[in-house]
Amino acid sequence: MPTKAAAKSPPPAEAPAKREVALEDLAGVGPTTADKLREAGYTDLMELAVASPGDIAEAAEIGTSIAQKIIAEARRAADVGGFEVGTVLLERRKKLGRITTMARSLDELLGGGIETQAITEFAGEFGTGKTQIAHQAAVSVQLPVEQGGLTGEVVYIDTESTFRPERIVDMAKALGLDPTEALNHIHVARAYNSNHQMLLVAKAQELAREKPIRLIVVDSLTAHFRSEYAGRAELAPRQQLLNKHLHELLKFSDTYNAAVIVTNQVSSRPDILFGDPTRPIGGNIVAHASTYRLYLRKSKPPRRIARLIDSPNLPEGEAVYSLTPDGIRE
Ligand code: GTP
Ligand code: MG
Repeated sequence: MPTKAAAKSPPPAEAPAKREVALEDLAGVGPTTADKLREAGYTDLMELAVASPGDIAEAAEIGTSIAQKIIAEARRAADVGGFEVGTVLLERRKKLGRITTMARSLDELLGGGIETQAITEFAGEFGTGKTQIAHQAAVSVQLPVEQGGLTGEVVYIDTESTFRPERIVDMAKALGLDPTEALNHIHVARAYNSNHQMLLVAKAQELAREKPIRLIVVDSLTAHFRSEYAGRAELAPRQQLLNKHLHELLKFSDTYNAAVIVTNQVSSRPDILFGDPTRPIGGNIVAHASTYRLYLRKSKPPRRIARLIDSPNLPEGEAVYSLTPDGIRE
């Protein structure tokens, strides 16, 4: 079926970043629908193309079948190298790097360390070491490859003002790195709200064009979203924005072969009678977007336990690590 969108010639394959087709160009999308979609965070075709019909129907207040049609249109129009042959993917996977957590069992649980081209989520209640692990990774990514690093620099998005340069100095010294250099390789930005937090990922892209950024930390991924979108009615917009944020992070990790670490609190589930009555914030959206999800809990101090859940290619399991003055250790 020839359509307005399909008739437009897509940009050449070598310029995948340019997408000239506007939402309004899609058959079935009028100005009102386009505005509603943009308000809900669907600003470009790719986001529409990968959305679910239910989410689009809700965001644009249209029927599911129309939403399905719009998504199909977006997929056609956004097809700027949407497919990659297996050999290309294999080549990209070969470049995949890993960052050591400095705790062997934790590295093993992750299949050899924190992976690039992926999102690794650390979820757990307060004091389980999420921020300490993020600090540790920000230091160990600076090590050479033989020592478990990527000779890389870091973008650190701090939403709770818990970044501590003093901790970086301690951890760098413990690894024989120059503390001043280590600090200068970590580009820290305080995110004042969820909007700002998302904007900082775009800023990180600019930085990554000049510096060898191999790790981006978002500590915490969900805190601002949770406090700003508190009511039940705000759940859908919150999830859509979180989804967009995570996809931008994933895009960053693919483009720059960087690792993404996000931390996540857990919410109380008083309705659960057996097992752990807590679970990570952000529900399915965060669960699906995170490539690796680790659930952290306290053990006999200074020990903590990490459990790997929902991993695509690794067996579920647990690792014990310690929070020491030098950083994370076995
Ligand atoms: P929330 O952000 O509150 O949810 O917690 P979190 O999971 O980020 O916890 P965090 O990483 O801040 O871990 C806190 C724990 O790390 C403390 O209970 C200490 O055991 C340990 N810790 C924090 N700072 C230091 C430090 O300077 N030296 C040492 N030895 N341990 C520290
Ligand atoms: Mg923390």
